[in-house]
Amino acid sequence: MRAFIVDRYGKHSGRIGDVPEPEVRDGDVLVQVRAAGVNPLDSKLRDGEFKLLLPYRLPLVLGNEAAGVVLRTGSGVRRFKAGDEVYFRPDKERIGTFAERIAIDEADVALKPGTLGMEEAASIPLVALTAWQALVGKADLKKGQKILIHAGSGGVGTIAIQLAKHIGAHVATTTSAPNIPLVKSLGADVAIDYRTNDFAEVLRDYDAVLNSLDAQTLRKSLQVLKPGGKLVSISGPPDPDFARDIGLNWGLRQVVRLLSHRITRSAARQGVSYSFLFMKASGSQLREIGALVEAGAIRPVVDRVYPFDSTAEALAYVETGRAKGKVVVRLS
Ligand SMILES: NC(=O)c1ccc[n+]([C@@H]2O[C@H](COP(=O)([O-])OP(=O)(O)OC[C@H]3O[C@@H](n4cnc5c(N)ncnc54)[C@H](OP(=O)(O)O)[C@@H]3O)[C@@H](O)[C@H]2O)c1
Repeated sequence: MRAFIVDRYGKHSGRIGDVPEPEVRDGDVLVQVRAAGVNPLDSKLRDGEFKLLLPYRLPLVLGNEAAGVVLRTGSGVRRFKAGDEVYFRPDKERIGTFAERIAIDEADVALKPGTLGMEEAASIPLVALTAWQALVGKADLKKGQKILIHAGSGGVGTIAIQLAKHIGAHVATTTSAPNIPLVKSLGADVAIDYRTNDFAEVLRDYDAVLNSLDAQTLRKSLQVLKPGGKLVSISGPPDPDFARDIGLNWGLRQVVRLLSHRITRSAARQGVSYSFLFMKASGSQLREIGALVEAGAIRPVVDRVYPFDSTAEALAYVETGRAKGKVVVRLS
């Protein structure tokens, strides 16, 4: 079958070629991929940025989320049958959605929201699970609380704003001026143009911040939190909980501790907490997210759809950092 393959780490690596059909285990569903979402994570994996923390055996089929149709199921599968339309983020050990077919554990799969086409559905799993695990999990966001969501016009931001509003929070976000109408249409109460305004001078007494930007933004975000507030970052630095979670050895755990030492100490001095999130696959959370999509509480924002043959171009567009919502590749 055809797939987008990385033979060696590096900026310009990646090609479409033939790979063997996936092996279907007892608990797996085999899915015909119809569309796959493209994420900054794909470029970072291809470039080798995560090779120390998440080592993959090369060649690697790239792609971290998709929507498609179940072709067949392993003998232990209970929830799905051939013909079901599904969407999913495979476990990090079993990525590879830029391919005609993929086998995934049924625990990581959910039925596609009935209101969405394949391309829209493929744009949701990774960013919606990230938003869910950051806001509901790490930040424990509650009705009436105030949250700052950075980069509200990006893949994660567009969904996180809607989820926070659904929870009943007051939402501030950062983006550039041309994207302010978009983030307002998603429900943001306050939209700050980061090119002309400093969010840290405008916002005060927030309960939570979701950071997806650089180290300077992360540090400044501490200033907007009230005592007891929570700073959650998905763009690093990784923290010791994450290191333990992915089973790093003692030496690497100490490296990770050092990486997050400064921000953790600054947070503690201010009476707030810092945590890093690396999202996980979850079919059950995708079912809850799917219900919110079907109820109209969350809508996907798809910026561009590329044909599968142009996967490298799709990755290059995501790398510009200017995507409005998500980028998707369509498989025929
Ligand atoms: N740890 C995890 O589990 C996890 C999960 C998902 C994503 N991530 C990471 O989170 C980051 C964001 O992911 P994403 O998919 O949302 O990215 P994305 O869709 O590529 O983000 C693009 C958006 O970011 C906005 N942006 C760029 N610079 C900004 C700034 N300085 N201030 C405010 N907005 C800015 C852009 O708006 P303008 O064009 O208006 O500038 C654009 O709309 C990436 O580093 C990704 O790897 C981590």
